Amino acid sequence: MGKPPFALPSKGARESYNNSYTQTAAPLSKTQTAAKGLFGLIFWIWGFWNLGPGSGVQLPMSDSANSTMSYLRLGSTGVRVSPLCLGMMTYGSKKWREWVLEEDESRPLVRRAVEAGINFFDTADMYSRGESEVVTGKLLREFQPRREELVIATKVFNPMSDGPNDRGLSRKHIMASIDASLKRLGVDYVDVYQIHRFDPQTSIEETCEALSDVVKAGKALYLGASSMYAWQFLKMLNFQREKGLARFVTMQNHYNLVYREEEREMIPLCLDQQVGCIPWSPLARGFLTGSRKRGDGKSETTRARTDDFAHGMYYRDSDFDIVDRVTEIAAQREVKPAQVALAWILSKPAVSAPIVGASKPYQLEDAIGALSLKLTEDEIQRLEAPYEPHPILGHSY
Ligand SMILES: NC(=O)c1ccc[n+]([C@@H]2O[C@H](COP(=O)([O-])OP(=O)(O)OC[C@H]3O[C@@H](n4cnc5c(N)ncnc54)[C@H](OP(=O)(O)O)[C@@H]3O)[C@@H](O)[C@H]2O)c1
Repeated sequence: MGKPPFALPSKGARESYNNSYTQTAAPLSKTQTAAKGLFGLIFWIWGFWNLGPGSGVQLPMSDSANSTMSYLRLGSTGVRVSPLCLGMMTYGSKKWREWVLEEDESRPLVRRAVEAGINFFDTADMYSRGESEVVTGKLLREFQPRREELVIATKVFNPMSDGPNDRGLSRKHIMASIDASLKRLGVDYVDVYQIHRFDPQTSIEETCEALSDVVKAGKALYLGASSMYAWQFLKMLNFQREKGLARFVTMQNHYNLVYREEEREMIPLCLDQQVGCIPWSPLARGFLTGSRKRGDGKSETTRARTDDFAHGMYYRDSDFDIVDRVTEIAAQREVKPAQVALAWILSKPAVSAPIVGASKPYQLEDAIGALSLKLTEDEIQRLEAPYEPHPILGHSY
């Protein structure tokens, strides 16, 4: 299947409700400037040590103090977010996943993201069993004490313990979970409270009413949802509208060059309902960066070796054919493969902001550089041509 499975609206349609504007990062004080110089040196040395596969290619770098960031409306809301959301699943505790960075390793990355103007951060209660929320709150407070400048998203649904009520989307679990998330994050409210999956064990009436009450209580400003079937999402959106409840404004779905099944139903639905898509794993958990190899598939980075979730979803021959196209176009444009994969997703009309993962400084620079890479229609077609349909990947059931 070379063509998208579903005809999508042109980019103009996206711009009509994304309404972007540009803002220059706030000027630094003298102390901050001196600290930045020292930090920049440390950062450069650390970045040098951490250069990963494909790093021989020159990439566009941006200077934090002078960087400008364009902000887009999140879906149809009035909230402006950077066109990249930083995925905080990478930061927390190695006890949860070997490839996760502990707080000290995470600090330079979060700092750089804030300095570059990224204002949108995504975590979840379950990441590192709560520790990701703790690290997210702590580091964001360090680098951006002005809470109103931050757009923080977290999630509820997955089990937090073996307890029968410590999971799912019952009123009981939602009410307990939002309070626990606020406490771990150290904030009074989250910007986007997301259901991590659909809960077939709880009625949508119970879930939607409880979520709306969370918004009414001021504990969350907006609601979002994550991977599920389009019919489930529409059923909830319709219920919310009929009852005058707070509605989901975002869909955090699984979408990238090697998994495009969302183009069939979910993405057209989101465009129709003006729900902003904030895709997770836009680089297919690193697979699209050219650092994962054919063969046993367990190549050099810790995550490549130990991320079994990625090995379960990708690594098919046709997936590698797409990576070959990504690498080929990256070489022609003299950029990194990751930048081509991100430029592709950034070109999609429904996408408000992909949620990127960065475990090394150069990866954050690559992502920022991708914002200025515009692919041609021909390049987009070449990237999409080798795609073959996949079974549903990334839903709970
Ligand atoms: N809603 C959900 O169900 C769900 C599911 C998954 C994720 N998420 C969210 O999405 C976020 C992002 O997920 P993800 O980490 O899987 O995203 P991703 O952006 O697809 O993958 C990130 C990985 O790609 C590699 N990478 C990134 N930039 C690179 C570059 N320039 N060159 C080479 N390799 C590069 C790194 O792997 P190495 O570490 O191996 O270098 C990094 O850990 C998460 O933090 C979380 O917030 C949500």
